[in-house]
Amino acid sequence: MSERIVLAYSGGLDTSVAIGWIAEATGAEVIAVAVDVGQGGESLETIRQRALDCGAVEAYVADARDEFAAEYCMPALQANALYMDSYPLVSALSRPVIVKHLVAAARQFGATTVSHGCTGKGNDQVRFEVGIQTLGPDLKCIAPVRDLALTRDKAIAFAEEKNLPIVTTKKNPFSIDANVWGRAVETGFLEDIWNGPTPDVYEYTSDPASGIAADEVVITFKEGVPVAIDGKPVTPLQAIEEMNRRAGAQGIGRIDIVEDRLVGIKSREIYEAPGAMALMAAHRELENVTVEREQARFKKTVGQRWTELVYDGQWFSPLKNSLDAFIDDTQKYVSGDIRMDLHAGRATVTGRRSESSLYDFNLATYDTGDTFDQSMARGFIELFGMSSKVASGRDQRLAEGK
Ligand code: ARG
Repeated sequence: MSERIVLAYSGGLDTSVAIGWIAEATGAEVIAVAVDVGQGGESLETIRQRALDCGAVEAYVADARDEFAAEYCMPALQANALYMDSYPLVSALSRPVIVKHLVAAARQFGATTVSHGCTGKGNDQVRFEVGIQTLGPDLKCIAPVRDLALTRDKAIAFAEEKNLPIVTTKKNPFSIDANVWGRAVETGFLEDIWNGPTPDVYEYTSDPASGIAADEVVITFKEGVPVAIDGKPVTPLQAIEEMNRRAGAQGIGRIDIVEDRLVGIKSREIYEAPGAMALMAAHRELENVTVEREQARFKKTVGQRWTELVYDGQWFSPLKNSLDAFIDDTQKYVSGDIRMDLHAGRATVTGRRSESSLYDFNLATYDTGDTFDQSMARGFIELFGMSSKVASGRDQRLAEGK
């Protein structure tokens, strides 16, 4: 039997050409693997047929939308994961679930090598290959664009020469990666970082200035995961989808940043993640109500490190697993309702209630019902400032030469 290679297949021009390109360059049989993470577009069946028409010996397709939402997006929500305080890890989150399916397909079809369509300049090659190395240490990796000189022009020429059933004329100026957690758009005129994004860049969000009426929503969380919207039970996938629709209509979750890639390049990225950003605003506020102060402070640091690890392709690393355990523990009491106004590009929290709230009205109030003994504050402040006071006394003494 000849060697077999599994290929992460999107159904687009580049990976369709990669099937034949890899086969010609290596003499191996190619198995196409398509994973639905909520990117929209064509059906898995259409993609599967195209893979076979382009010369794949087998096609493995998986609807991983629920798995992706529950096991990848929800941990990111619980971590309040925003890389560089802005980017909700859209692409970085989907790579590990795709890796899982690539390795499963490699096992199922007896492949020795895994292939992906990434270039040699981005983060995604690292995420795929580090993930594959970790889950399948015996598997080799190959990237036709990076390792087999498959350029865009060669891809078009190859598709035309072999009469592949794909459209080669329509030239999309952008490189787009999308899933249910959000959408990433780069390249083209966006590479001039002074150029503002044009309306055609966006798909998940409407113009925040469209003037449509505000939308009030109540999101119910259980242990850091949304379980109902306006009282109607939802799965994680449904929660994200519904908030994509409703927050997207209000233009919430548009992000335009220059980002530090793992490979050392700064790149300009446009993201839109309406559901993710709205859910995160709600989740963060529910944490404010239910997570104890020191735990919350430390969690912020842990969440940031978690985010960097995931961005850097370390999803399957021991440190990431350990931080998961910490974050999971902090979510024990993050249950309750958050009411938000979705309007004109913003998701604004207007109300919160929780059975596990740490908010104590009688401690907080300035009105009748106050149970807080204010006389305790004087002694507390005296001790709290003591070490600085002692040090400052020393500094003044030495400055005066005594
Ligand atoms: N820069 C982002 C990341 O590394 C998004 C990359 C998305 N890829 C794309 N072809 N637009 O996670």
